Amino acid sequence: MAQAELMTNAIQLDRLVNVSSVPQRSPFRYPGGKTWLVPLVRKWLHQLPFRPKLFVEPFAGGGITGLTVAFEELADRVLLVELDQDVARVWEVILERSGNRLARRIEDFQFNPESVVACLSSKARSKLDSAFQTILRNRVQHGGILAPGASLMKEGENGKGLGSRWYPETLGRRIRAINAISNRIDFLQGDGLMCLRQNVEKKNSVFFIDPPYTVTGRRLYACSDLDHSELFKILAESDCEFLMTYDRSSEIESLADSYGFAYEEVLMQGRLNQRKFSIILLSNSTSVTGTPPVSPSTALSKVVKQTKSRMSLMGVDISS
Ligand SMILES: C[S@@+](CC[C@H](N)C(=O)[O-])C[C@H]1O[C@@H](n2cnc3c(N)ncnc32)[C@H](O)[C@@H]1O
Repeated sequence: MAQAELMTNAIQLDRLVNVSSVPQRSPFRYPGGKTWLVPLVRKWLHQLPFRPKLFVEPFAGGGITGLTVAFEELADRVLLVELDQDVARVWEVILERSGNRLARRIEDFQFNPESVVACLSSKARSKLDSAFQTILRNRVQHGGILAPGASLMKEGENGKGLGSRWYPETLGRRIRAINAISNRIDFLQGDGLMCLRQNVEKKNSVFFIDPPYTVTGRRLYACSDLDHSELFKILAESDCEFLMTYDRSSEIESLADSYGFAYEEVLMQGRLNQRKFSIILLSNSTSVTGTPPVSPSTALSKVVKQTKSRMSLMGVDISS
């Protein structure tokens, strides 16, 4: 099927699900964050034939999906894994007793351009310092990008300057709320692939997989090198339940093809700047559609049909 044809069949998520039903719970404004996909993840979890014992997010980033699962008790436990050491420090601090100290540090910070520059150029002397600096950088750099080379916002959002995304009370509240349910969340700093290998065979474990994308990953993340083929292989060799997102690229389409994964395209209209986000979703679709995964090259029309059938199974109106 030609690209244009698949695009026409793409599911436009914002027309179909209520994205505003997702409380913002992450302390990060994460590039490539999946808040907008949470309604679909909830539906996927609700229609599994079992309640997950373990929900794993092996490429956690801002962790909105895992946080939602933990807050809404959609699984018994949540495991977040992230390789980036700076991002990892934030999760470690929030989930430890020091979470409340981080919240207070944010609330007490006297925010102005000079104090921001002084803080970001100082040497972190503790995990708490490092976590605070990362949250601050995430809030004052363009697009929340933490990769080397990212620069400070000048105009900020709506011309409000450097502090346009600095909401100390909201951040403090979110951090305390996460800390209060830390008994349901485990965090590991490490390699998502290794975590997958260690957990795919665990009964009633499910995986939400949002890796650094092949096209944009390098610009957005300090850790972006990933053996995508190995990721597909691990999933193909197990029969675990997973939902995986990717950018639409020839590399990923050909991996989906080789490993026989069905995929579907999801479009989302950005709220502020009207940009369209487009990703593809891959899954072990047997439990979702009742049919085995279909190889895109051999039966793309079937994939689209399957996509629609999945969406209707999820209770999503696909008639428009
Ligand atoms: C697309 S982002 C995840 C965004 C997340 N779903 C959210 O909503 O905020 C991918 C993340 O994977 C992390 N990452 C890259 N390579 C990794 C690896 N081998 N293991 C674990 N995490 C990795 C990146 O640092 C980045 O935070």
